[in-house]
Amino acid sequence: MIILKLGGSIITNKDSKDPICNYGALKRLANEIKSVLINNSKEKLIVVHGAGSFGHNFANKYDIGSIFKDENDFNYKRKGFSITNNCTKKLNTYVCDALIEFDIPAIAVQPSSIFMAENKRIIQSNIDLIKKYLDLGLVPVLYGDVILDVNEHINLVVISGDQIINYLARELRPNKVILGTDVDGVYNKNPKTNVDSKLIHQVSSLNDLDSQDSTTNIDVTGGMFGKIKELLCLAELGINSQIINANNPNLMKNALLGDETIGTIVKID
Ligand code: ATP
Ligand code: IPE
Repeated sequence: MIILKLGGSIITNKDSKDPICNYGALKRLANEIKSVLINNSKEKLIVVHGAGSFGHNFANKYDIGSIFKDENDFNYKRKGFSITNNCTKKLNTYVCDALIEFDIPAIAVQPSSIFMAENKRIIQSNIDLIKKYLDLGLVPVLYGDVILDVNEHINLVVISGDQIINYLARELRPNKVILGTDVDGVYNKNPKTNVDSKLIHQVSSLNDLDSQDSTTNIDVTGGMFGKIKELLCLAELGINSQIINANNPNLMKNALLGDETIGTIVKID
């Protein structure tokens, strides 16, 4: 089984104020995924995608995930929860459109309908549904979304695609976890703001990074630092993951085919 992440920075214009989908990248990646599946039709695949400009702007604007100050604040956040959910769902439709166009039997799974959180971490899910889809050869497509939290002081929270990957990988023990993002892998510091940053081929601890820069201002789920935290939890269980630049044609395909020299491997020796 493979769990694959399509980062919000790849499939959307993440820096945009408005939701903008990067259809070109999406189709190219769907084609790369298909070219691998054709030769291995028995491979189970889950696709998780980020929200990019379809999620972060709204989650930020409505401050989803912070404690309710009063009744007005609750009403405001409730509206934001609904808007964010609706917009991430639209992006999910575009992702599924692209996968289906390339004959990948995608099935949209709305995180807000199958997950519950406690203090912003997923504690409950309908995992049997996902297992059944996989058994039937379908490809579940999940995404960073807003979900309910049992903590009554927050109730409405954001979960990243990376947290979903962490949760699913614990439950389903895939043999491969690949995350496509817009940089060549993990660097000792943010490569977009530091010309002297160096690519790290293997990350085994958060200390491998010099700084805790995340990504752009709009990222509400922790950017690269948040991503590595989730992946290190998996590495502790012996589930390794690979972060690659999905903007470079064929890297996703080659990573799916098993090329571990690409990007960064998150692994504890
Ligand atoms: P996610 O769904 O987790 O948000 P994503 O693919 O959209 O996935 P980002 O969260 O945007 O990825 O993280 C990628 C960004 O992280 C890069 O564009 C880069 O600017 C930033 N970044 C910050 N620190 C680092 C680092 N040490 N190494 C690599 N990238 C870093
Ligand atoms: C964010 O999910 C979810 C929302 C803001 C609703 P991600 O953190 O997985 O999204 P990207 O990949 O950064 O865009």
